[in-house]
Amino acid sequence: MRLNGKAAIVTGGGSGIGQGIALAYAREGADVVVADINLAGAQSTAAEISRAGRKGIAIRTDVSDPDAVQALADEAVAALGRIDVLVNVAGITIPLPILDTTPEHWDRVLDVNLKGTFLCLQAAARQMAVQGGGAIINTTSVLGLHARRSRGAYCASKAGIIMLTRTAALEFGSLGIRVNAIAPGSIETPLMNSAPASREELARKAAAIPLKRRGTAADLTGPAIFLASDDALYVTGEVVVVDGGMTAGIE
Ligand SMILES: NC(=O)c1ccc[n+]([C@@H]2O[C@H](COP(=O)([O-])OP(=O)(O)OC[C@H]3O[C@@H](n4cnc5c(N)ncnc54)[C@H](O)[C@@H]3O)[C@@H](O)[C@H]2O)c1
Repeated sequence: MRLNGKAAIVTGGGSGIGQGIALAYAREGADVVVADINLAGAQSTAAEISRAGRKGIAIRTDVSDPDAVQALADEAVAALGRIDVLVNVAGITIPLPILDTTPEHWDRVLDVNLKGTFLCLQAAARQMAVQGGGAIINTTSVLGLHARRSRGAYCASKAGIIMLTRTAALEFGSLGIRVNAIAPGSIETPLMNSAPASREELARKAAAIPLKRRGTAADLTGPAIFLASDDALYVTGEVVVVDGGMTAGIE
C-alpha cells in the first residue's frame, strides 16, 4: 500500500473525481477526511471508506468560505492528528459566453475553484509546515491550458490554479511540502451534466480523443496516488495532464 497510515483531506470528495480519489486513497491505506458542500455525498464516501477498514470522516465545507476551511483543517487535525495530503478537487462550472457572464457568475466560479483552492492549500500548508512536510494536489483542467468557448470564468479559474500550484511549489519546497496539479480532460462525472451535450456530440468528442474514449474518475486515481506518495518525492510544481491524449497535438 502506497499511502499506508497517511492522513488525507479530499475536497469535493462527495462526487465524481474527488470521490474516486478518496476511495482509492483509502484502498492504499490512508485515512481520509471527505470535505464537500454536499454533506450527504461526503457521508456516503466516508461510509464506504469506513466499510473498507480505514477512517472516513465527512465534513460539510464550502471551500470558498475562509472560516469553514479553517474549521475543516482544525477538525481534520483533531480527528487524524495531522494532514499529510490535501487534494483540492471541489469545483464548479457555469457555462456562459463572456458577454452573458455577470459579475455574480464570475465571482462564484472564481470563489469556488480558485479562491477555494488557495484557502485549502494555505490552511493545510500551515499544518504541514509544523509537521515538517506534506503533499498538495490541485485539480486544474485541460481548460486551464487551452481555451474553450462559454468557459471564460472556468478557464480563468483553472489557469489560475496552475500558477498558484507553481508559486506554492516555490514557496513551500524548503518546508518539505510538494505541490502539484492534475489536469483532467473529458471525464464522465455529474459535473459534465451541468454543461449538457447531446449523445451524438459526446460520441463525436470521444472519437476525437486519441485513446478513443472519455475518461472516468478511475483514470485519475493512479496519478493522484503517485503524486501523494513517496514515489513522487522529487516531483513538485508539475501539472500532470490526464486526457487520453486529447491535447497532445493538432491534426
Ligand atoms: N469532469 C470533467 O470532465 C473535468 C475535467 C477537468 C477538470 N475537472 C475538475 O475536476 C473537479 C471535480 O469535478 P467532477 O467532474 O468530479 O465534478 P462533480 O460535480 O462530480 O464533483 C464536484 C464536487 O465538488 C463539490 N463542490 C462544489 N462546490 C463546492 C464548494 N463550494 N465547497 C465544497 N465542495 C464543493 C460538489 O458538491 C461535488 O461533490 C472539478 O474541480 C472540475 O473542475 C473535471
